[in-house]
Amino acid sequence: MENLRLRFDFNNMMSDFIGDRGIKESDIEKLMPRIESAHRAMAEKRLSGGMDWRDLPYNQSRTVDEIIDYVNEVKDDFEAFVVLGIGGSALGPMAVQQAIKSPYYNELDREKRGGFPKLYVMDNVDPERLAYFFDMIDVTKCLFNCISKSGSTSETMSQFMIIKEMLSQKLTKEEASKHIVCTTDRSNGNLIKIAGQEGYKTFIIPSGVGGRFSELTPVGLLPAAMCGIDIKKMLEGAAFMDEICKDGDIYKNPAYMYAVLSFAAMKQGKNIAVMMPYADSLRLVSDWFAQLWAESLGKRTDKYGNEVFAGQTPVKALGVTDQHSQVQLYTEGPFDKMIVLIGVDNFRRETIIPELYGDIPSLGFLGGITQNKLIQTEQMATEYALYKAGKMNLTITLPEVNEFTLGQLLYMFEVATGFAGELLEINAFDQPGVEEGKNATYAMFGRPGYEDKKKELDSRPEKKEKYIIK
Ligand code: PA5
Repeated sequence: MENLRLRFDFNNMMSDFIGDRGIKESDIEKLMPRIESAHRAMAEKRLSGGMDWRDLPYNQSRTVDEIIDYVNEVKDDFEAFVVLGIGGSALGPMAVQQAIKSPYYNELDREKRGGFPKLYVMDNVDPERLAYFFDMIDVTKCLFNCISKSGSTSETMSQFMIIKEMLSQKLTKEEASKHIVCTTDRSNGNLIKIAGQEGYKTFIIPSGVGGRFSELTPVGLLPAAMCGIDIKKMLEGAAFMDEICKDGDIYKNPAYMYAVLSFAAMKQGKNIAVMMPYADSLRLVSDWFAQLWAESLGKRTDKYGNEVFAGQTPVKALGVTDQHSQVQLYTEGPFDKMIVLIGVDNFRRETIIPELYGDIPSLGFLGGITQNKLIQTEQMATEYALYKAGKMNLTITLPEVNEFTLGQLLYMFEVATGFAGELLEINAFDQPGVEEGKNATYAMFGRPGYEDKKKELDSRPEKKEKYIIK
């Protein structure tokens, strides 16, 4: 599997290459005591059960078998598999499906989909989207996967309630129950109780694994398997990366090095991290990563209670598309960001540009080359432009995009996020800022138990008309 190992090239983060605005080896040397203590903290947390997501590549063989059996049992009964989830319960399933399958997966006929159902992910409560969805789909031909770790997220549960009601209007109780499968915590929240009472097939998210670290649990594995993705290979890729990430030597551990470079970049005011895959298939990996990095590291206080306002803003971009939109800013704009390019050595398909217009030099040079070569060359050219402009950038390369390499990539970013949390001395596994918004929503709806929050909200200053332009 060594031939499928990811490569991590951080030359262009370093001052030897991009000059004074880069990171010096001596900067990294100075961080060594902090790096060593972060490594110890990671190892201790893992041993004491504080990082259960790290064991997922190894401890799920029964779950995987159960998922595969379930998929084989039901896949022919449904036209579409519809995920109802949000945040960590939606971004991973979308990223993995897009990476492994055709971008036109749902448009393919069933045979070309390998006999698997279409996949839709409903991750918002936009009323238009759901209504348009119902215009297009027959709910009695869908299997709905309600995914919620907490089992009480309003957005997901509201969608679940709408679907349940629709199914019950069209089907008998017994039939309707076969159209819902739940993925949730074993004991916490409403969903597990409802699933038990109403007889839904249920998969469990291990209790020590938080939402954004849950892609390698049934949260991600069930939707992936339902599209014919090899989930065993994904977990093998994660296990392969886990071995690499056990090494305390940051020069051998790409996840640690990613975190260290990001930490050093943040110290220099580079508080934006652009992720720019040069492959459409990896576009949604940037979305998945954005949540992981933002929600984990964006924290007001450190673990000692000091106000630190930590974090680095993730920005999503796509090569080459955003060369014609964002790269001008990245090369000539402020020195406030690091840019992460993700490349692919071998694409699954090859598209040749025909040898036309040989007499027009600005077009003729394209004739006979492949788009594969074109996208890779443009990636190298962007890397060069960034290097020349003195802008921090690094490149992660996948030998090819498949389940094994994707498992490596996702797992590497998870470890990097955990390690960055240790370096920043913050809790990377909570999200108090998200809770505030959730609680304010509950208060506005007058949910029992949120009376004080409602009073707090009602005491906020009235908006001034003069600041509203109509
Ligand atoms: O990372 C997290 O914990 C969150 O982003 C959650 O994934 C998100 O809020 C959805 O939560 P739940 O799965 O409990 O519905």
